[in-house]
Amino acid sequence: MLIKNTRSKPDFNCPEYEITDESAFINRRQLIKGMAASGALSSLPILAGKASPYSTSEQKTSEYSITHYNNFYEFSLSKEEPAKKAKNFVTNNWQVAVEGEVESPGVYDFEDILKWVQQEERIYRLRCVEAWSMVVPWYGFELRQLIKRLKPTSKAKYVQFETLYDPERMPGQRRGVFNFSSLDWPYVEGLRMDEAMNPLTLMVTGLYGKNIPPQNGAPLRLIVPWKYGFKSIKSIVKIKFVEKQPVNTWQKTAPKEYGFYANVNPDVPHPRWSQAKERRILSESLFSGTRRIKTEFLNGYAEHVAHLYKGMDLSRHF
Ligand code: MTE
Repeated sequence: MLIKNTRSKPDFNCPEYEITDESAFINRRQLIKGMAASGALSSLPILAGKASPYSTSEQKTSEYSITHYNNFYEFSLSKEEPAKKAKNFVTNNWQVAVEGEVESPGVYDFEDILKWVQQEERIYRLRCVEAWSMVVPWYGFELRQLIKRLKPTSKAKYVQFETLYDPERMPGQRRGVFNFSSLDWPYVEGLRMDEAMNPLTLMVTGLYGKNIPPQNGAPLRLIVPWKYGFKSIKSIVKIKFVEKQPVNTWQKTAPKEYGFYANVNPDVPHPRWSQAKERRILSESLFSGTRRIKTEFLNGYAEHVAHLYKGMDLSRHF
């Protein structure tokens, strides 16, 4: 059963908690930078103050499970391997290219992007197509903050994201026997502009009060909590504003099984399995530390996002 958040309904246009004195925010970034340099960041408590009204109050998944049971095909097809194989993935001097229908194209330092935005903790569910789910205390900023700063043109109808392509550093991208590669690289995802501007859509930089570890998509990944986990693209190096609906990686790989929207929907089964139930991973044990629960429409976020799909046939736009 989902425990509904009882806090008052947020005002989407300008929630009070969004407004922060910029100098206070920059000071906080400097503090974090200093702590990172001294190796103290891992023990940094979240300083966000007020809890977000968008967060769920459900029991959180253990940090161990969140960081040791991952889908990250750039490192491995197994869920246990990314934690080991991505351990030494260095993200220093990370840059993000901004392209397409936008007034401010360019290549931006990740550190500079962080100076433009306000970050806070949000506790969101992550529900995978393979019927497991987690509740994760993510840390990051609303994608819409960045989009507003970049100023897309009126032609921009979708946002496309790309993950780093670097087979030297991401062993899963190397071609194996018979020139085999699990996916067509780089990993690509996309959102309609109104989905991208929804306040639930997060750019994540941390979890459990620490910088996001490589296996979860360091240093910058997307979280779209009402969609299946594959929409939440990791280790982003490119954001492109486009007119046409992008073809995302899983849609390209298996178009009958994965669509563009990928909205969590218990009434629309995957062609090979039902999506009506999920296994909520809570503690460290993947055997005893789980609970089978009913999947909620839009992953329990319908009150915030159902209006985006009014009049659409969701069994066709899956
Ligand atoms: N992003 C990239 N670049 N490569 C991937 O393989 N896997 C996706 C998504 N983002 C994936 C990705 C899938 S299928 C899921 S369920 C989530 O990441 C898993 O995120 P987590 O490991 O933080 O739980």
